[in-house]
Amino acid sequence: MKDYLHAERVSLTAFRPEDADILAAFEQDSEYLRLYDAEVARPRTAEAVRAAYESLTAPGNFVFTVRGLDGDVMGIVCLDGILPFQGVGGLSIALGRRYWGQGFGREALRLVLRFSFNELNLRRLTITVFDYNTRAIRLYEHLGFVREGAFRSFLVRDGKAHDMLLYGLLRSEWHDS
Ligand SMILES: CC(C)(COP(=O)(O)OP(=O)(O)OC[C@H]1O[C@@H](n2cnc3c(N)ncnc32)[C@H](O)[C@@H]1OP(=O)(O)O)[C@@H](O)C(=O)NCCC(=O)NCCS
Repeated sequence: MKDYLHAERVSLTAFRPEDADILAAFEQDSEYLRLYDAEVARPRTAEAVRAAYESLTAPGNFVFTVRGLDGDVMGIVCLDGILPFQGVGGLSIALGRRYWGQGFGREALRLVLRFSFNELNLRRLTITVFDYNTRAIRLYEHLGFVREGAFRSFLVRDGKAHDMLLYGLLRSEWHDS
């Protein structure tokens, strides 16, 4: 059986309350906030971050802290909106800036896909991404996600309207690598 918790350089671990301190520090970065979320891009307190991710540990949602080999908190991945009888769910990921562009996101998502399809037995995963987040789009397409549509003019930032793109991956299309 293939490991879905450990890759070469990253592990998926339980979200621990103290992880929120580091995740909140990542939010002192407006680019990170604007890549991750359509909410007003402002940093939250560690308490607010902790409460948000702890609420996602309820049945039907799954949250993992992404850790490096040394145990450092690199980011967070969430599976939410799961409809167990339909076998569908949504996925989101965010790593702190110092970890971008080095293949860590790819490693973490490969694990999450394995967990989603081989442990949760989901049939389909959905992910949304803003049209300006080219790094995330390249990564999702590399992993096999298919662009299925767009929420046109979903958000306005710096005076420009942007689409939120809808991507989906079916288990039958997924190549475990
Ligand atoms: C989006 C995100 C998760 C992607 O993760 P990432 O680790 O930065 O992405 P990766 O490194 O896996 O892939 C990006 C690039 O790194 C390159 N790369 C892959 N393995 C590598 C390695 N071992 N060493 C160096 N570079 C590598 C890839 O080729 C890719 O470059 P390319 O797009 O030019 O081909 C991350 O950038 C992030 O959290 N951003 C902020 C929040 C966000 O945007 N969340 C997603 C919202 S939809």
